[in-house]
Amino acid sequence: MKTGWAALAAVALSLASGGYARAQFEEQTSTFPYKLPVGILQPPLVPADNPLNDAKVDLGKRLYFDKRLSKNNTISCATCHNPTKGWTDQSPVSTGIHGLKGTRSAPTVLNAAYNLLQFWDGRAPSLEEQAKGPIQNPVEMGFSLPGVVRRLKSIRGYAPLFKKAFGSPGITIERVVRAIASFERTVITGNAPYDRLQAGDATAMSREAQKGMAIFFGKGNCSVCHTGFNFSDSDFHNIGVGMSRPKPDLGRFDVTKEDRDRGAFKTPTLRNLKDTAPYMHDGSVKTLSEVVDFYDRGGEPNQWLDGRIKPLHLTASEKKELLSFLDALTGDPVNVQPPTLPQ
Ligand code: HEC
Ligand code: HEC
Repeated sequence: MKTGWAALAAVALSLASGGYARAQFEEQTSTFPYKLPVGILQPPLVPADNPLNDAKVDLGKRLYFDKRLSKNNTISCATCHNPTKGWTDQSPVSTGIHGLKGTRSAPTVLNAAYNLLQFWDGRAPSLEEQAKGPIQNPVEMGFSLPGVVRRLKSIRGYAPLFKKAFGSPGITIERVVRAIASFERTVITGNAPYDRLQAGDATAMSREAQKGMAIFFGKGNCSVCHTGFNFSDSDFHNIGVGMSRPKPDLGRFDVTKEDRDRGAFKTPTLRNLKDTAPYMHDGSVKTLSEVVDFYDRGGEPNQWLDGRIKPLHLTASEKKELLSFLDALTGDPVNVQPPTLPQ
């Protein structure tokens, strides 16, 4: 048994990777000044040290679309999280700098502001910290944090935009990621047929989708994990995806080193699935119909399978109804035109 400082250090570590970051984030928040779509019942959390304003969101949008944030000017955030592709790249895994491929599927940026932790394994505690990942990832943008700052300082048009956003023209990596995160906090989808039904429009969803809704919250047991208005508990579960591979991706385990986290990944939102195929952390499931079949057979059995994943024995028409309900979770796309970039 660990005692004294060793035990304390272990607690601090486990808290830092989850609970502590979360609690801190929730306590220190500032206001969200924009209108939310129908069905999005709460504003996203905004860290107190990064309040939102129009100038910062505008700067963040330009940085998000700027390929000069990659080492050889070929890849931007929008390359892999493309607004015209449901803010993903619609590929099983992403292709970054020099055509290099990663091992996980790009999640959507839509409503990512509602994730309590970022990445499939939750290794980043905020959108700000998340944005530093791809810049330095050798198979994504292949650059470095000082490299990006140097590059942006060399582009004359950026300093005035940093001044507008932050009050002074200095360019630092913290400001870069704060601007990008601020832009991402405005990428929010809602107003799906399901939302309009909840808001009182009884005709918003078909009969079939309404039956599917009953399955989602009942026999299908989907809502134990896909919960709340963004259909995610922001928690990590092993449902078996990829676990039959010889060397499976262990997901959350690589962050926490807790045995129960082996093969656990973050529950994704179920909004706008129509635009974000293929599905799952490894992009291994091509269609929603295959997703439903996967759950119907009880996921992929393995030692760490979440106890709530069990064979469902859905009939063919129940599967169709459940699919109709998933369709009714696709709402307004968030169309953002690529901005003009500072020179
Ligand atoms: C080469 C493709 C690629 C590029 C470029 C890229 N991303 Fe990603 N992004 C991914 C992949 C793949 C993941 C999932 C990785 C993981 O979970 O380990 C991801 C995860 C994320 C997440 C977490 C979402 C969630 O649901 O947890 C956010 C937010 C995000 N990226 C934003 C950005 C931003 C901002 C940039 C630019 C600074 C960027 N990405 C650049 C591929 C890319
Ligand atoms: C025990 C928690 C849990 C339950 C119950 C559950 N899910 Fe999931 N769901 C997850 C997790 C975790 C993932 C991501 C798994 C991965 O990529 O390895 C996921 C992924 C998905 C995806 C893919 C989304 C994407 O963007 O890739 C869909 C669709 C989905 N679930 C629908 C459902 C439906 C429909 C049900 C009910 C039949 C259901 N889920 C039940 C936790 C759950």
